[in-house]
Amino acid sequence: MPYMFDPQLRNALAARMRFYNEIGIYDFYQRAPSIAASASTASLQEERTSLQGEEMSLRKSAAVMTPEAVPLKILATTSVLSFAEEGMSDPVKALQAIRIDLGDCTRCPLHQQGRKQIVFGVGNPKAELMFVGEGPGADEDEKGEPFVGRGGQLLNNMIKAMGIEREHVYIANIVKCRPPGNRQPERDECATCSPFLMRQIAAVKPKVIVALGATAAKTLLAMNSSMLQLRGRFYEFRPSGMPHSDSGWNGCKLAVTYHPAFLLRDPRQKGEAWKDLQMVMKELGMKAPPKMEE
Ligand code: URA
Repeated sequence: MPYMFDPQLRNALAARMRFYNEIGIYDFYQRAPSIAASASTASLQEERTSLQGEEMSLRKSAAVMTPEAVPLKILATTSVLSFAEEGMSDPVKALQAIRIDLGDCTRCPLHQQGRKQIVFGVGNPKAELMFVGEGPGADEDEKGEPFVGRGGQLLNNMIKAMGIEREHVYIANIVKCRPPGNRQPERDECATCSPFLMRQIAAVKPKVIVALGATAAKTLLAMNSSMLQLRGRFYEFRPSGMPHSDSGWNGCKLAVTYHPAFLLRDPRQKGEAWKDLQMVMKELGMKAPPKMEE
């Protein structure tokens, strides 16, 4: 008689596999079961195959299933690019694939806390310079584009002061849904959403990322230091889980500066932010215009 998982266990396993896929885990290595399963291994394999078929039909799976194994203990390896966009050299297509993969995301609680839409990212898919903020506010949620409110106006001016236009850079956030009341995103919300940002970064392949504010800096760098400690230097950055690639891009530099919303509250810090941007401009070989305007 074919072996069937208990429906609850089956659903739990399917949800767990979907979760691992969503955060970039495709390769599953299983330990031999400690207790011999009473079911035939062929039936178990059949059951797993149907689980995968139902739950992951849109995904490319590189799951390694040994016939003797029961999928209860999972050791996983991650790879940022083992997704739909793997092997795509065209960043436009890669970003489209990531957007499709993101879908109408319900992976974290933010999807049911009043978001109107997902704010994916905007700008030049081949940008040398990328800005990463915290998360959409009301204006961004309304428009579906990052940094379009008051903070966005200031960011545009900062970009202009560098001698380039908003269209030349790529702009994204740590979380893609508006946290209610503009609260800071929770750590687990950042952790759930940031694999998609990592994939966007790996698709765009910028030379420099500017993390805007503490949430972006701490999430990208996985450090818990103060802005004072984080600013004023470059970090070597590789999207987490990204394998060494032969595309010639193995990461980039990352600088930290103040979030535009903070600069609106405390304009005296604009000079400090300008120093950060000048450091970035030097790295990118950009000529510094005389002064930052608002
Ligand atoms: N603040 C952010 O961090 N991101 C936005 O997109 C807008 C405001």
